Amino acid sequence: MQRKAVHPRPAVRESRCEGSRKALGGHSFFRQAALQVCLAPARAKRMDDPTHFRNLLLTLSDAFSREPRAGGQLAAQSLKSADVSGYRRIASSEDPSALLGDAAGLPSALPLVEQVMQCKTQLDWTCWEGEGLDTMISQRLFTTELLGPDGHIPAEDLRVGLLVSEPWTDYPVSSHSGEETYLVLSGVAEWVVGDTGYIKHRPGDFVHHPAWAPHGRRTMNDPFLGAWRWSGDLNLSTFSVK
Ligand SMILES: [Fe+2]
Repeated sequence: MQRKAVHPRPAVRESRCEGSRKALGGHSFFRQAALQVCLAPARAKRMDDPTHFRNLLLTLSDAFSREPRAGGQLAAQSLKSADVSGYRRIASSEDPSALLGDAAGLPSALPLVEQVMQCKTQLDWTCWEGEGLDTMISQRLFTTELLGPDGHIPAEDLRVGLLVSEPWTDYPVSSHSGEETYLVLSGVAEWVVGDTGYIKHRPGDFVHHPAWAPHGRRTMNDPFLGAWRWSGDLNLSTFSVK
């Protein structure tokens, strides 16, 4: 059975994703449009100035180099050696700028969040709509893939990206084939992995999910911004809510 959000959600505060959904004509149409977006080929486009994007990749490389796993080292190497001349736009319909600004403004934000903000116009975001994920949750989560099969920079053996979440959002327990690690960049969030129960994680923490491990995350007062990486089986269609 699909779990529902357990946190109270602000009564009058609309998700920043909601406006664009309404503009698109409602959830049903949005889902169809989102599917088409997912299936649309990425559009190659040269960046006017790749400096900020390159700096973001290098800073994330340095961060993941501190993760003592093969997947972390792969992410670090791939980010460091990424050819930014291969940058391409990703078909996307979301603009989480305001939410990113809130996350970047938190006192706990890591310095590298500034790198995210400096190249935010070069990042294309989408709401994450995995199998079984309630629309009311997915519209509160925005993700961008920096490196990977669907990313700004093509890569076949890993995915690396960013995710920003509204406060008071309960991302339900789910699993997927890819081995995954999150690096918390800003905001405090609670994580459950397997049978650990919910544990608070703060900026600078790595949270690891082995392949197929059930895991979930919930935010409280703070928005959340994290960097994520996948290795192993990168098939997104293996995602499902428990
Ligand atoms: Fe995950």
